[in-house]
Amino acid sequence: VIDKQDIRDHDLYIGGIKASDLAKEYGTPLEVYDVTQIRSQIRKFKQVFEERHVDYSVNYASKAFATIGMYQIVKQEGAGIDVVSGGELFTALQADFPMNRVSFHGNNKSKDELEMAVKNGVGTIMLDNFHEIDLLHDVLEEQNANIDVMLRITPGISAHTHEYIQTGQVDSKFGFDLGSGQADEALQRVLKEKRMNMKGVHAYIGSQIFSTKGFVGAADKLVDVMKHWHDDFGYTAKVVNVGGGFGIQYTDEEHPVAPEEFVSAIVDEIKQKTKSYNLPTPAIWIEPGRSIVGTAGYSLYTIGSRKDVPGIKSYVAVDGGMGDNIRPALYEADYEGALANNADGKPVEDVRIAGKYCESGDILIQNQPIPKSKPGDIFVIFNTGAYGYSMASNYNRNPRPAVVFVENGKSQIAVKRESYADLSRLDTKLKEN
Ligand code: LLP
Repeated sequence: VIDKQDIRDHDLYIGGIKASDLAKEYGTPLEVYDVTQIRSQIRKFKQVFEERHVDYSVNYASKAFATIGMYQIVKQEGAGIDVVSGGELFTALQADFPMNRVSFHGNNKSKDELEMAVKNGVGTIMLDNFHEIDLLHDVLEEQNANIDVMLRITPGISAHTHEYIQTGQVDSKFGFDLGSGQADEALQRVLKEKRMNMKGVHAYIGSQIFSTKGFVGAADKLVDVMKHWHDDFGYTAKVVNVGGGFGIQYTDEEHPVAPEEFVSAIVDEIKQKTKSYNLPTPAIWIEPGRSIVGTAGYSLYTIGSRKDVPGIKSYVAVDGGMGDNIRPALYEADYEGALANNADGKPVEDVRIAGKYCESGDILIQNQPIPKSKPGDIFVIFNTGAYGYSMASNYNRNPRPAVVFVENGKSQIAVKRESYADLSRLDTKLKEN
């Protein structure tokens, strides 16, 4: 992981700027995004499709990191987005994101959310269940509107990743079940809905997946569904959406292929298999989140206290923790870090990087080899761009960090640091009697 970083004279640089200078200018904890890396990953995904001459859409799964600035970048890159709540949709609207490039996911979208989507001209509703078909029917009638829809099915593929982030297995809470005929029933319902334009089929097998086989298997399953619908219901899907979930490298122990290689394998499989069935090549959509923003994100912290348990272990504490990155505590996720001003320094000890939250589980890194460090040093954790800030909380009433975007040696604030006043802004003082 450290080999991939820009280190000059022992100092870590992010987007051409010295990391310790960013910490000085904006304070810590600080989330820094190297925008060049975000753009380059979107372009690599698009290139896979361009080279293969297929219709496509790269829809950034914005749950990985959703701010106005991030939506602006995706818009500039000509990609689409996937949103999963009224809140993400609202933020995208504030960024003037083109609504026809938005698809809306979720297993329990409310009527309010569907109304908001239809009113604002969202491109595609990813239908997840029968209740939602009813709700959307009513909303479309009320607004005298039409909309594109796709059916999310559960492909019955168990991906090898943390149980909390598996979604493709048969007992998942998401999507229409294939085996029991629910997906077919949903198709017949939707084909009868005059205001719904049935675009195609979607599946998502889970997140942080390293297996090309898993993705190819899901693609295969989707083409089988396409054929079955074609043969038995006379319906030919125009779009096959294979979701996201492409794994990225967090530590030196992991060796995933580049995210765009998963996509190449998927596209080749869909092209070849539809051809063998004599079906037209559908448009292929993907929804990557983590692989677009994960490696572009860096968390900067200031080192504070230290506790040595003689002969057992040492804790080095930083000024953030599970409030800005819940992933180690929630998924036992591993990260690697370094000292920003001695990034390639020779380690002299192994320590635990502890957060400042009142929980024993608030350990950001279990085992971090580190050169000599002292309070005030800047510690950086790599690859924190996905599901870090977007899952941040105010636990212990700690303000959420600021977010800074860097590109070509220039930095700008993307989200301001929260103040204490922000933390209690929605609290009301009880009346005293
Ligand atoms: N499409 C759908 C329908 C999804 O549910 C998700 C993520 C994505 C796309 C994007 O997946 P990605 O490319 O980012 O893996 N909080 C967890 C990850 C939860 C993923 C939820 N769905 C984590 O921090 O590992």
